[in-house]
Amino acid sequence: MATLAMKGSNPHSNSPPSAENPVATVTTFSHDCRGVARLDGKAVFIDGALPGETVRFRYLHRQKRYDTAEVVEIIKPSPDRVTPSCPHYGTCGGCGLQHMRPEVQLQSKQQILSEQLELLGKVKPESWLAPITGPAFGYRRRARLGVRQVASAGGVVIGFRQKNKSFLADLETCLVLEPMVSALLPALHVLIDGLSCPDRIPQIEVAGGTNASSLVIRHLVPLTYEDRERLAAFGEANGIRIYLQPGKPDSIAPLWPSVHKPLYYRIPGFEVDIRFEPADFIQINDAVNNAMVARVVELLEPTAKDAVLDLFCGLGNFTLPLARRAGRVLGVESEKALIERARANAQLNKIMNVEFVHADLYRESFNASWNHFAANKLLLDPPRSGAIEIIKSLVEPLPSRIVYVSCYPATLARDSEYLVQVLGYRLTAAGVMDMFPQTSHVESMALFIKS
Ligand SMILES: C[S@@+](CC[C@H](N)C(=O)[O-])C[C@H]1O[C@@H](n2cnc3c(N)ncnc32)[C@H](O)[C@@H]1O
Repeated sequence: MATLAMKGSNPHSNSPPSAENPVATVTTFSHDCRGVARLDGKAVFIDGALPGETVRFRYLHRQKRYDTAEVVEIIKPSPDRVTPSCPHYGTCGGCGLQHMRPEVQLQSKQQILSEQLELLGKVKPESWLAPITGPAFGYRRRARLGVRQVASAGGVVIGFRQKNKSFLADLETCLVLEPMVSALLPALHVLIDGLSCPDRIPQIEVAGGTNASSLVIRHLVPLTYEDRERLAAFGEANGIRIYLQPGKPDSIAPLWPSVHKPLYYRIPGFEVDIRFEPADFIQINDAVNNAMVARVVELLEPTAKDAVLDLFCGLGNFTLPLARRAGRVLGVESEKALIERARANAQLNKIMNVEFVHADLYRESFNASWNHFAANKLLLDPPRSGAIEIIKSLVEPLPSRIVYVSCYPATLARDSEYLVQVLGYRLTAAGVMDMFPQTSHVESMALFIKS
C-alpha cells in the first residue's frame, strides 16, 4: 500500500499506473469530495483527486452522463495536498480525504454547502457562521468495527470496509479513533483470535464517554467460561469496559466490570451530563458536539418566556442544555429506549421544565401532541433524509426561529427552499461543522427567522 501522494506513486489503487490510463486536469470538487474533470465534454468524478491537479486515472464505471474513476498517479499535485500519515490510507474506506489539508477540507465543505443551497434549494444565507472545528485526528468516540476470520490473513481482520470493496481493511491503528482505543487494536486481534469462536464474532462497537470507554463484543454463538475470563481480563488490564451482545441490541450486558456503571458524557457550559448505553446514538466528536450545542443555544436565544421544541432529540443532547435557559422544552424521538434515557437524564440533571415524547416524526404530524406544544422556537436535527414531512405539517402559529442541524446538505437545501419560499422564513445564517475531519461528510447548521 502506497502512502506518498506524489508523481510516480499510486496512492489510491492496488495496481500500478500504465500509459493507457487517461490523464486529466481537475477543475472542481463534487458534493461528495471527488475531483471533477471533463474529457470530451463528459464529466468524470475522480476519487482521490483535488481541484487544480493533473492526474492519471483509472475508470471504475462508465455511464451515459458521467464516469467515475480513481487516481492512479498524481502528475501535478495541488498545494493543498498533504501526505497522509495513516498507514491504511488508500485501502481503508474510513477516511477518504486525508490527502487534503484539514483547513482546506473545511473550506471545501462550506463551498459544497453553499452550492447545494443555491443549486437545490435556490436559497442563499444572508451570512456565514464561523465554522465549528475540533481536533483533526483522534476525535472519533464511537465506531463500529467489523470482524472477519480470514485464512490468508492468518487470523481475524478487524476494521472498516475497504474503499470501494466489501472486504474489511485490517487496522493495526486508526488515526481518527480515540487514541486509547486505536492503541488497543493490535491486542484486540490477539484477543479475538484466542477466543473459542473467532469466526462467530462479526463486529465490535466502540463507545467513549467522559468517564470511560467501552467495547461491545457481538457473538453469534455462546462464549465459553474461558472466553469470558479472557475478555474480562482484557478489559481490566486495559481499563476499558467490556459488554457482550449475544442477540439484538437490547441483549447487550456488561461483562467487565460486572456491575453496571453508566457511561456518560459531559456538556461543559450547561452543567449537563448525558448518560448513555454503549450502542446508543451519540454525536461522534466530543469537542465539536460541545461547540455545536453552545452554538444552537446561542442561535435560538432561549429565554424563560420561550417554549422550545427539539425534534429528533435522541438522549436529550440539545434538549437539556436548551432547558437550562428556556421556559419549557419538549423533545421528540422515535426510539423508545432513547426517550426513557432522555427522561432519566432530565432527572439526573435535576431539570424539571422538560418533557419527552415518543413519536415517529415521519408518520404522525398535524394531530400529534408535539405539534400542539405551541413552541415559538424549534430545533430540527434529522437523519440524512431530512425533515420535509415535519416542516410541511407544522401548525400555526409557526415558530419565530428555527435552527436546523444537518448531516446531509442536499436535504437541508430541499427543506430550506420550502421554509423560505413557502413558509416565508429568512435564511439568516448557515455554517459548517468539522464533525468528521478526513472524511467527505458535511455537517452543517442553518438559522431561519420569521420576521
Ligand atoms: C442525528 S440523530 C440526533 C440525535 C440528537 N439530537 C443528538 O444530538 O444526539 C437523529 C435522531 O433522530 C431519531 N429518528 C430517526 N428517525 C426518526 C423518526 N422517524 N421519528 C423520530 N425520530 C427519529 C434517531 O433515533 C436519532 O436519535
